[in-house]
Amino acid sequence: MKFTFDAKPVLKWAGGKQSLADRLIRFFPTDFSRYYEPFVGGGSVLLALRPKQAVIGDLNDWLLDTYVALRKDHLQVARYLDAMVNTREEFERIRRVDPASLDPFQRAAHLIYLNKTCFRGLFRVNRQGRFNVPYGAYDRRYHDPDNLATVAACLRGVEIRYADFELCLADVLDEDFVYMDPPYHKQGGYSDFDRYTKWKFREADHVRLAALCRDLDLRGVRWALSNSDTPFVRELFQGYTMHAISTRREINLNSQERDISELFITNYGDDDHDE
Ligand SMILES: C[S@@+](CC[C@H](N)C(=O)[O-])C[C@H]1O[C@@H](n2cnc3c(N)ncnc32)[C@H](O)[C@@H]1O
Repeated sequence: MKFTFDAKPVLKWAGGKQSLADRLIRFFPTDFSRYYEPFVGGGSVLLALRPKQAVIGDLNDWLLDTYVALRKDHLQVARYLDAMVNTREEFERIRRVDPASLDPFQRAAHLIYLNKTCFRGLFRVNRQGRFNVPYGAYDRRYHDPDNLATVAACLRGVEIRYADFELCLADVLDEDFVYMDPPYHKQGGYSDFDRYTKWKFREADHVRLAALCRDLDLRGVRWALSNSDTPFVRELFQGYTMHAISTRREINLNSQERDISELFITNYGDDDHDE
């Protein structure tokens, strides 16, 4: 019997891959040593894959501090969460608290609380790095202690790096596998570049990422990358295998279907994966 943990992301994250994760990991190779995810965000792909060895990274320090705190003592985080209430007054109070003034467990609890009680549950910070999303007024439970425990167990043995993606991938070897889900290139006037950190992910960063992917390819490292389907992205990754993924199903690139929304690009062939 296969023992499975059903771990859900602790945070709702903009661009989160929760609805696609199970489908994407079927395109991953199965024979790698370490799994690298340098834009981990809410971690839906990591939690769906549950690799034996992993290195994750992100440039959002509050997010990564939360993972570190959960891994160390999720019960402590849960105790703080249990003491908070879902009201507008409490939300306003918590939002004003400087996360740097809190102990690591309370800081994690504040992020989870704000993420789950704010409008649409999305993380966004202003130029000072302060959370600035309004109250959501949703009448729901804002944390699930069992899931917190499962996620904490999944994070055990995972190396967590607060770093730009280039640094995060500095020691990747040819037996490893990398999945990258950067902030998406702007599409149809809609932009993803300033949602997650006080820094912006600009076209120059996409160019830098594509150059890194070509370098990894030369070194024999297998990788997969998600991004929006724009002429700029197609040009940057010309020569690699591209799958068009709709939020509903995978479709043929040549098809005339309208709801193509993003690309899943790999530097390895269809024979390498599990399907
Ligand atoms: C599209 S989200 C990843 C979503 C994730 N796959 C999920 O399912 O939740 C992109 C992430 O990249 C992070 N990021 C932005 N710039 C970065 C950089 N230069 N290096 C590493 N991470 C970065 C953001 O903080 C954000 O969490």
